[in-house]
Amino acid sequence: MSEFVPVAKVDEIPKDARKRVEVHGEKISIFNIEDTYYAIRDTCPHKKTAPLIRGTLDGIGIKCPNHGYRFDLKTGDCNIDPALKTRTFPVKVEGEDICVQVG
Ligand code: FES
Repeated sequence: MSEFVPVAKVDEIPKDARKRVEVHGEKISIFNIEDTYYAIRDTCPHKKTAPLIRGTLDGIGIKCPNHGYRFDLKTGDCNIDPALKTRTFPVKVEGEDICVQVG
């Protein structure tokens, strides 16, 4: 069973903020959009080099800083190429901890 891992304190990622963390070797970008947290694999699957943490928010999605492909923060779906769907992670808050389910 996958575990929820504490990755940050809630005051580290206030509303409209973001933070990149690393869990078990996986770089994960966490976004706080209207006080809801979303977690997505940080490395863009298109060229596998761009960090999505530096992207532009577009609703509940993030546009890659390199070529602008948009990835849904809930599903990981890519708006340009369905084969580029990326991984997202469940997030929950326990007390002051933001926890991400990895595994
Ligand atoms: S590297 Fe992200 S869209 Fe091209």
